[in-house]
Amino acid sequence: MTDVRDQVDAQIHHWIRPEIASLAAYPVPDSTGMLKLDAMENPYGWPDSLTAQWHEALANAQLNRYPHPDAPEVKTALRTVLKIDPSWDILLGNGSDELIQLIAMAVSGANRMVLAPEPSFVMYRMIARFVGMDYVGVPLTAAFELDLELMLSRIEREQPAVVFLAQPNNPTGNLWGDEKLRRIIEATPGLVVMDEAYTAFTDADYLSWLDDYPNLLIMRTLSKVGLAGLRLGILVGDPAWLEQINKLRLPYNINNLTQISARFALDHFDVFEHQTAELTRQRRLLQQQLAALPGLTVFDSQANFLLVRTEPGRAAALHAALKETGILIKKLDGSHPLLADCLRITVSFDAENQRLLAALEQHLLTA
Ligand SMILES: Cc1ncc(COP(=O)(O)O)c(C=O)c1O
Repeated sequence: MTDVRDQVDAQIHHWIRPEIASLAAYPVPDSTGMLKLDAMENPYGWPDSLTAQWHEALANAQLNRYPHPDAPEVKTALRTVLKIDPSWDILLGNGSDELIQLIAMAVSGANRMVLAPEPSFVMYRMIARFVGMDYVGVPLTAAFELDLELMLSRIEREQPAVVFLAQPNNPTGNLWGDEKLRRIIEATPGLVVMDEAYTAFTDADYLSWLDDYPNLLIMRTLSKVGLAGLRLGILVGDPAWLEQINKLRLPYNINNLTQISARFALDHFDVFEHQTAELTRQRRLLQQQLAALPGLTVFDSQANFLLVRTEPGRAAALHAALKETGILIKKLDGSHPLLADCLRITVSFDAENQRLLAALEQHLLTA
């Protein structure tokens, strides 16, 4: 047995690409029994009557058959709900993570570069590595704004094949302003993907910019609205771009249960709109309440989470203390120099926010 084990290690060392061997898999902590405020999920369930109707819809699922390869009914419903112009096409992914991967695979090659402001969504960098591309992270300012001059000079130097711009940005929660975004899109030789994962929590909406730029794609997801478990990401853009990217999509990537459930949920989208509107209201309240706690700086957010900074050196202990009391938030301290002493808190409904505030207050006052 030992021999085989040794051989496995040797073979891995020989065959697995070094940049993959040196990567850690995307970390997902065990959240069993915890108050989960770490992953920007919608905390609300569905009204019972809706759940019953959904179960009826699922009863018709034919799991012996492959799903429709293009999920046309889901796309039609998305067009209505998201107001997607008929001149643009839609490509669906198993979450927007899969779409990021498809885009990267489509443009990858020797000396092909992915560029993104940092800190931002970590999958841009990870996926660039997966597909063997170079990655350049361009630091935001200390206030998490875009450093336009730096971005423009890096774009000029690196000539990126794709630039990812998350708006609102994760984990900072802010918007970077139309003027800077336009300058970046105009300066980028390759594709620009505007990742609007948190669109439900902001008035900003860049879908109409597709009319202005031949190198722009818009990415959305149903995850943050309340359907993270479905895994449905949405890429919108010129049919010619999407035709190319679609070639890399594995057949049947959107399974039967997801197609039926998404179709059903989109027919009842007002339920999610009410929930996200309430979470947006709760975000404003929670921001004020967190800011009133001793030693916490809270950053403005246009998303369903808040970035907070503790006093120097306190973030890890606070994160651990909350975990002890059964509350899971995201520790960002240590993940990027600009995020020193930072934590990210997903906004929930009032009772859960109050539980978080009480636990935080206790730890901040006693530590
Ligand atoms: C900016 C951004 N884009 C994309 C995603 C991934 O979303 P999905 O669940 O659709 O894969 C996230 C998830 O946190 C995100 O923050």
